[in-house]
Amino acid sequence: MPQEQLMDKVVSLCKRRGFIFQSSDIYGGLSNTWDYGPYGVELKNNVKRAWWKTNVYERNDIFGMDAAILMHPKVWEASGHVKNFFDLKSDCKGCKKRFKAEDIKEATKCPECGGQLTEARPFNLMFKTHQGPVEETGNEIYMRPETAQGMFVNFSNILDARHPKLPFGMAQIGKAFRNEITPGNLTFRTREFEQMEIEYFVKPSEADEKLQEWIDTRWSWYLDLGLRPENLRKRAHAQDELAHYAKACTDIEYSFPFGWSELEGIANRTDFDLKQHTQHSGKDLQYFDDATKERFFPYIIEPSGGVDRSVLAFLVDAYNEEKVKDDTRVVLKFHKDLAPTKVAVLPLLRNRPEIVEVAKSLAADLKKSIITVYDDTGSIGKLYRRQDEVGTLYCITVDVQSLEDKQVTVRDRDSMLQERISLDRIKEYLITKLS
Ligand code: GAP
Repeated sequence: MPQEQLMDKVVSLCKRRGFIFQSSDIYGGLSNTWDYGPYGVELKNNVKRAWWKTNVYERNDIFGMDAAILMHPKVWEASGHVKNFFDLKSDCKGCKKRFKAEDIKEATKCPECGGQLTEARPFNLMFKTHQGPVEETGNEIYMRPETAQGMFVNFSNILDARHPKLPFGMAQIGKAFRNEITPGNLTFRTREFEQMEIEYFVKPSEADEKLQEWIDTRWSWYLDLGLRPENLRKRAHAQDELAHYAKACTDIEYSFPFGWSELEGIANRTDFDLKQHTQHSGKDLQYFDDATKERFFPYIIEPSGGVDRSVLAFLVDAYNEEKVKDDTRVVLKFHKDLAPTKVAVLPLLRNRPEIVEVAKSLAADLKKSIITVYDDTGSIGKLYRRQDEVGTLYCITVDVQSLEDKQVTVRDRDSMLQERISLDRIKEYLITKLS
């Protein structure tokens, strides 16, 4: 399928089935801002849960955090974001559109209307707001452009509270805001988005080795959750594209329908942040090594991924169209841990109260341990297609025979194979399949 078509199909499915909606749609929409609907929020939560499980629960050396979005304005001076976090942009004097200098290269004429472009000027990407009821210069604060700083400023709190030894890390998932000049491609680049970030503190001499370990670990995470290997690649940053705080960085890129683009960056931030915060706050953020009696600033290895970008990659990757007899079925083949709904219970005949009763009571029981939906609003063919389109793993039908033999039919999403399983074994059967 041509790549532009794929993107259009995913966007349309997202709206039709309730994954992602345009924000403030009834007012004409706020451009490049998206709301997650019933299936979207489940998918997004599953991505975040899978990340937290691998990076926090399954390790002994990473501590979870949830820092505030609003931080002391000095944080952003220390971090270098006030001075360095900007894009160069040009405005068109004719149509008033704004362009990133790197997108239009050395052009002097507007690529859209041919009007005169202004000289490129720096444009800070941080959103500013005011704390307190009066809008004045002294109470300006920023919406955080990365979650990372919330962890750096808590470095000594974690040392005092948990007494970890190097190497150790902090992990956080949360919103970040950037006044992007060229957002677009659904949730790929937006002004409000969520990040999943790890700040991993290491001895400076071990930084290169740990950077490589994290590149490999994060690479495997995407593959383990089902992304096709041919759609992933690693790309090391050239020196001139590194962020102001980084000594090295490798991106994990995904082959989106609009081209290869960054999914996650894994950077060596050196001791830049801890040194800067020590200098600006007056609080010593060095680490004391009990064994060697040395005091030093650890280096930081940072795997930083976007939740919304991952959701988009998982959606695009899962999208399949298959010929079934004379029909085409659309199926989202999500990994079992990501599928928004695991099971759908569907009565074969909705005008038979005994069948509906068995189906409803089975669904109610399954719901206690598995994300399950009940649906009796169409013919079985339609109901199957509807569940395929949202990636439901198993459909269970209750039919006339079920009333006699106490068995139900379980249909596998991917193979479409059907199996009869007895009602008293069905829950255990599904739990085993989903674990
Ligand atoms: N703390 C490091 C940092 O923020 P980044 O490469 O600017 O690094 C990390 O961002 C990740 O956050 C990116 O790989 C991407 O997945 C996500 N991200 C960044 N800007 C985004 C935007 N405007 N919209 C959606 N996701 C974004």
